[in-house]
Amino acid sequence: MGEQQTARKQTSKQARGKAQSARQRGRQATAKGPKSGPSKARRRPAPQVDEQGVLDFLMKITGDAAAAAGGVSVAIGDRLGLYAAMAGAGPVTAAGLAERTGLVERYLQEWLAVQAGLGYVIYDPQDQTFTLPAEHAAVLADENSPTFLAGVFPVLRSIYGTEDGLVHAFRVGGGVGWDEHSDPLYRGTARLFRPGYRENIVSSWLPALEGMVPRLKAGARVADVGCGFGYSTIIMAKAFPKSAFTGIDYHGPSIEAAEKAAADAGVAERVSFEIAGGSNFRGSGFDLVTCFDCLHDMGDPAGVAQRVRRALADDGTWMLVEPAASGRLEENFHPIGRFFLASSLAICLPSAMAQHGSLALGNHAGEEALRAAVQPAGFSRWRQVAQTPVNAVYEARP
Ligand SMILES: C[S@@+](CC[C@H](N)C(=O)[O-])C[C@H]1O[C@@H](n2cnc3c(N)ncnc32)[C@H](O)[C@@H]1O
Repeated sequence: MGEQQTARKQTSKQARGKAQSARQRGRQATAKGPKSGPSKARRRPAPQVDEQGVLDFLMKITGDAAAAAGGVSVAIGDRLGLYAAMAGAGPVTAAGLAERTGLVERYLQEWLAVQAGLGYVIYDPQDQTFTLPAEHAAVLADENSPTFLAGVFPVLRSIYGTEDGLVHAFRVGGGVGWDEHSDPLYRGTARLFRPGYRENIVSSWLPALEGMVPRLKAGARVADVGCGFGYSTIIMAKAFPKSAFTGIDYHGPSIEAAEKAAADAGVAERVSFEIAGGSNFRGSGFDLVTCFDCLHDMGDPAGVAQRVRRALADDGTWMLVEPAASGRLEENFHPIGRFFLASSLAICLPSAMAQHGSLALGNHAGEEALRAAVQPAGFSRWRQVAQTPVNAVYEARP
């Protein structure tokens, strides 16, 4: 062993020793408690608190609490068609809205007050009327608008309902499975994602895959893994009538909803559904496998990648649609990123943890982590093919 190596070994040994004894000292101090009572002399000087800073932060948290509490008003407005009733109606009063909707005026007064306070509708104190601007209607009133977001609020109801399960999981591990949530999460997620899928799947994501659109036009076999309510499967099936589609999800009630949606859309004869996990679904020789916003919810993404590889034809393609969150935490500190972070903690991570698999990615693991989970299964070609403010789309090929 050379001198330098010996010196390095000794130095690191000394360092390890120092760190260990510091940790031991810390542990001992915790176990025994302080030797004597708190002494003023040994206390750290109190940090200087900027009172304005406290007030500013208090206001921020108050605003966040107001938005969180106001969420239920959006869910109610969406469910009762209040935003739709106000869209394009110009200035309305509670009485006018009650007349239009047949709902109880006193509740509508309160609801309109919340909407005005949150800035969702504009209040005119002179006339005491409330207006939903067209720009806000595009986000709250029209389910078919690509910018519709009211569908997300019922999801929050389901999240709050899992608080006890999450606290338990923090203590002992495990998680809260997708199947342990309630209908508002399933329905809400499907409604949340559908506008983006309608806007992008056929017009830009599939065309971005190498040679895929001609194959779909000619008649291809497609598996949509983790399909939930099957909206993505149905959108593709409607666009490519010569192709056959299988939607796969481990959650039975979602598959039931997907079957009904396919029948309603008139594509049931070319779309079948299977209740199965991402790593044990049936079939092989698929030209295309898709995963929309779901791989990171699965507890064994590497196992799913292996199953997808075996399910694909050798010249097949796996299209992975994931949240457009960054693997660099600090790049997610904006409204969409904040929603990703919060929903990862409350939904995605616990879903994967509940499956006790090899890897719980969370929804902001980033491209490198995804790629590392997928490529060893035999996907030598990997590239990002599209990006929206909400989704990143990857093409993985053998
Ligand atoms: C966020 S949702 C997305 C659903 C659908 N792709 C969409 O975009 O609306 C995640 C889906 O993954 C499904 N899922 C979670 N773990 C799964 C697993 N191991 N195998 C199959 N599906 C799974 C859930 O049941 C759920 O439908």
